[in-house]
Amino acid sequence: MEALLFFAGAGAALILTSNHETGKSDKKTYGENRPDAHGNIAANRKKVQRVPLKEFPPLLNDRLLKAAVGEPTDRTPVWMMRQAGRYLPEFRELRKKADFFNMCQEPELACQVSLQPLERFPTLDAVIVFSDILVIPQAMGMEVIMVAGKGPVFPNPLKLPTDLEKLVMKPELEKTLGYVFDVVNLVRQKVNGRVPVIGFSGAPFTLMGYMIEGGGSKTLSNAKRWLLNHPVESHRLLQALTDIIVEYTVRKVEAGAQLLQIFESNGGDLGPEQYYEFSYPYLAQIARRVKEELKKKKLPVVPMTVFARGVNFEGALEKLAATEFDAVSLDWCIDPTVARNRLKNTSIQGNLDPCTLYASPGRIRQEVGKMLNGFGTQNYIANLGHGMHPDHDPEHAHAFIKAVQELSLEMNQNKK
Ligand code: CP3
Repeated sequence: MEALLFFAGAGAALILTSNHETGKSDKKTYGENRPDAHGNIAANRKKVQRVPLKEFPPLLNDRLLKAAVGEPTDRTPVWMMRQAGRYLPEFRELRKKADFFNMCQEPELACQVSLQPLERFPTLDAVIVFSDILVIPQAMGMEVIMVAGKGPVFPNPLKLPTDLEKLVMKPELEKTLGYVFDVVNLVRQKVNGRVPVIGFSGAPFTLMGYMIEGGGSKTLSNAKRWLLNHPVESHRLLQALTDIIVEYTVRKVEAGAQLLQIFESNGGDLGPEQYYEFSYPYLAQIARRVKEELKKKKLPVVPMTVFARGVNFEGALEKLAATEFDAVSLDWCIDPTVARNRLKNTSIQGNLDPCTLYASPGRIRQEVGKMLNGFGTQNYIANLGHGMHPDHDPEHAHAFIKAVQELSLEMNQNKK
């Protein structure tokens, strides 16, 4: 209870954020994005009647799931990280009216946003459930707000190891993140078998970084200070996060997710020694335990992808491939041919530099061609090396999708 009071402060607060797109001041309420006095988040949402997995229609397009586990596909599947986001005018329109985390917590709204990319680009091979990795720290009692022009901010980040006492280390997930499972189930209902639904989570070290830095950070100085000066407490936090992530992702599958992606977006800030101590073991543990739990619960053992951004050093990709993850997602700082030689029998996802989408559609097609030549069309999921940018032109995203689909089909037909 004390933990809740510490972070919850005096209840809902009103903040003024300036909307940098319109220049207008934007009134937004927040304060419901951490557990209330009963330990619930978004308890007053319109609840979703969750449909059991066995009642969903068969999947019409299973290219993503096949490519992820190394089965042949007629063409390379494609989706984009942050495909539901600010580069879409239809997203910005909804976002004008709602606070970011309120959007995550309103199942119908979050579902609508998740589907926007598929509606605009019906040939996309997957839908990712709209949410954020920072809902886990919220479930643990920390306040996180989304500030226009700045990104996520934790008003009270973790400072000292004694602050761990204020965290809810074992939150009740149905009470705190039930709204996410509602969104997953609703998205699966509305997608209605057209394409698979991707569920995701942040990885422990990336979440720990945000919880200590209080937002994005170039150097992760404070988080790395913990690794050096408080290794025992760092491991305690990383293990608690791992336990939550395992339960959280298994419940997402129970709610309808057909592939899971784990984002270790800050992995590349660690040198090999720290990566092997504070990141990799938890990633490996998550993949192993999630698959075990899924088997035990007789749930579908869905493919899992790991995106350890910036972790390309010698041996690192090979070691990720040796875990229970099925696919390794790469950023653009590795050449596709080199990556394919290093990961011969592992499925790869990636890795077009998101800035390539600023080029003309013709140039985008050329770059996609090079990427497909390097990775090959099989055991491969085309994606960007990181998320879409807010100033990307949706038409250029379309050029990317089309180029992957047309060129990979052509390459496969030429091989026959
Ligand atoms: O389309 C999708 O990919 C699904 C939704 C999704 C979001 N965030 C929505 C979002 C996913 C998968 C994420 C993951 C996420 N969130 C990560 C891991 C992936 C990565 O990018 O490395 C991280 C580190 C976060 C934390 C986070 N959320 C940051 C750093 C930011 C600010 C960056 C920015 O672009 O402003 C967010 C905000 C965020 N998450 C937005 C969206 C659509 C934009 C927020 C807004 O509308 O104001």
